[in-house]
Amino acid sequence: MKVGIIGGTGGIGQGMALRLSQNHSVLIGSRIEEKAQAACELCEYALKVLGLPFDLLPTTNQGVVDESDIVVFSIPAENLEQTIKGLTGLEGKTVISLMNPMVRTDYFRYDPPAEGSAALKLQKLLPDSKVVAAFNNIPAGKWQKLSEPLDYSVCVCSDFDDAKKTVMELVESVSELKSLDAGPLAVSPYIEAITPLVINIARFSKMRDVGVYFK
Ligand SMILES: NC(=O)c1ccc[n+]([C@@H]2O[C@H](COP(=O)([O-])OP(=O)(O)OC[C@H]3O[C@@H](n4cnc5c(N)ncnc54)[C@H](OP(=O)(O)O)[C@@H]3O)[C@@H](O)[C@H]2O)c1
Repeated sequence: MKVGIIGGTGGIGQGMALRLSQNHSVLIGSRIEEKAQAACELCEYALKVLGLPFDLLPTTNQGVVDESDIVVFSIPAENLEQTIKGLTGLEGKTVISLMNPMVRTDYFRYDPPAEGSAALKLQKLLPDSKVVAAFNNIPAGKWQKLSEPLDYSVCVCSDFDDAKKTVMELVESVSELKSLDAGPLAVSPYIEAITPLVINIARFSKMRDVGVYFK
């Protein structure tokens, strides 16, 4: 499976690239190809030091769309509209949203767009793509800590059963992640809102990399 990450140079994008590239072809995308190249070199170095296999290439965000079966949007949610305007060819693709719009005051507050969630906005902007919300609640630091297993629950929701199934398989291919079918994309606001909750817990309870495991 070829997975491309738009905004793959960020903390979460690089973390996902480190884990996913061990058993999938992964493209790190950026607005600036040289930035993708630098992120790729960092990931390759970390993987080589540990003697882990990888299949990883840098490209532009448009290169991600052109070459990937699954496209991950890993950018700040407020930049969604502007980013999509610059891209062509997303029709028919499975598109993952892991974006969690939030604002920080004296605590972190979920701040969804008018559509109800970042994933619902993405689906509205891309009516011919199959949007799946997934990987929303895993901290970047844990993706990047290759010496530790990733043992979180991953809530997955979508209005497209085939795309949801594909993404659930992708989830299960990573370390000890457990995928859970959370239903249609209308459920995505609840999934996105978990992230400000766990960040507040981490901050006020003085914990690090808090995530969720449902059982
Ligand atoms: N950090 C976490 O622990 C975490 C966990 C779960 C979900 N998330 C979600 O994942 C997404 C990415 O998080 P992150 O922490 O990796 O974010 P980030 O580092 O702030 O941004 C990720 C990438 O987005 C691109 N970007 C930044 N500003 C942009 C703009 N104006 N237009 C287009 N692209 C822009 C940049 O890539 P280029 O400059 O290379 O184009 C940047 O490296 C967010 O929506 C967040 O809610 C984060």
